[in-house]
Amino acid sequence: MTFSKQFVLGTATASYQVEGAVAEGGRTPSIWDTMCRTPGKVLGGDTGDVACDQYHLFRDDVALMADLEVDAYRFSISWSRVIPDAVGPINPEGVAYYRALCEELHSRGIKAVATLYHWDLPQVLEDRGGWTNRETAFAFADYARAMATELGDVVDMWSTLNEPWCSSYLGYASGVHAPGRTDDLAALQAVHHLNLAHGLGQRALREVLGKDVPVCLTLNLHVVDPASDAPEDVAAARRIRVVGNEAFLGPVMDGVLPDELREITRDITDWSFVQDGDLELCHQVPDVLGINYYSTSRARQADAGELASSGGHGETGASPWVGCDDVTFLPVEGPTTQMGWNIEPDGLYRLLMEVEQRYPGLEMMITENGAGFDDEVVGGRVHDIRRVDYLRGHLGAVERAVADGANVTGYFLWSLLDNFEWSWGYSKTFGMVHVDYETQQRTPKDSAYWYRDLSRTRDLETVGDAWVAVP
Ligand code: BGC
Repeated sequence: MTFSKQFVLGTATASYQVEGAVAEGGRTPSIWDTMCRTPGKVLGGDTGDVACDQYHLFRDDVALMADLEVDAYRFSISWSRVIPDAVGPINPEGVAYYRALCEELHSRGIKAVATLYHWDLPQVLEDRGGWTNRETAFAFADYARAMATELGDVVDMWSTLNEPWCSSYLGYASGVHAPGRTDDLAALQAVHHLNLAHGLGQRALREVLGKDVPVCLTLNLHVVDPASDAPEDVAAARRIRVVGNEAFLGPVMDGVLPDELREITRDITDWSFVQDGDLELCHQVPDVLGINYYSTSRARQADAGELASSGGHGETGASPWVGCDDVTFLPVEGPTTQMGWNIEPDGLYRLLMEVEQRYPGLEMMITENGAGFDDEVVGGRVHDIRRVDYLRGHLGAVERAVADGANVTGYFLWSLLDNFEWSWGYSKTFGMVHVDYETQQRTPKDSAYWYRDLSRTRDLETVGDAWVAVP
């Protein structure tokens, strides 16, 4: 079994995590600029002010990707760079940056995959309520339309949202992500308005681009198993799946707000902010379902006084698992990554097969998978064997799912570069390329050479260890 030449082996980043240049070219602040300036919110007081400076170094980064023979680059557009007031006129300088990036990618034979929203909401919209305000969904649709009009000829695939689970629950319930609020009702409003934004955004993209350019929605579907066969543990895992997965799949894929979700959240809201006709607007099945996968978890019914844990992106004491205070997670066993996340490739296989069974034939791409580990540069090399093992295991799971009938057409390694890991600042390193933040020197890790060789051979069996001798 090998990956076909058409199977996309790409890599991914996101605007605030790599671009830097936050006050250049007409960009205005996003909620992450504000978050970084709020004491105690980001480890070490780190900010995305400079990050990997990709805004200035994109030509070098594209050359690097060409050397690594990646098929596609998944990046995100900074909304406040291209529309500084969030609604209204575009900023030609901001748009020109993304056009230049796409053209550079194409000149090297690399496909451009643009995500419209990877968490950096313009601060001016947060000042009006952010994702708790339904107007934000309509502003997003206008932004999507503007980008399709401006960049439709140079983007090969569009993605509306990246992981609305994080934007809503981590942003508004646990508060570890921007805007850092801890309000369960606000989080559920955000869930709905993000679903609405996807639906309106996909329609807007289609209006401009027709059916020819694929549209993707990226979800981080949770693979949660019950800690035991006991009915209360099975029910606990189900509640997490409903809040984590069905809250998005229901409206977007099926056009319904699941009854189970209403039931779990009934003490928080009656969902009366969902207006007549909204669910039809949310119901926009994407051409490609993007799946971001990192790890699994095991849930059980909590004893009195226990609290569901945070899902790994940081700690505030508040839980992102709205309505699930009676659920807790088992401690992780076995090897973990730098984030403390367990390593379970089979979870990816199971997830892909589950989606395939539920939505037969639906095209899927792994829009993110990868691992942070403590890496060390020694003599110009980074021997990140654990990352190679991680990638080998997970790509093996993808290959198995494809062999068993899942319609998976691509995989994007997270991440091209070490970068700004949100509330963890620069302390976590997911890149296949090491970044020295003092000099902006890029050093491909062994995993990058391994991935390059996989791109050449397309064969996990024979990719072997030739890369160890590189360059
Ligand atoms: C996000 C990335 C993030 C990665 C690792 C995903 O949730 O989309 O932005 O860096 O996970 O935490």
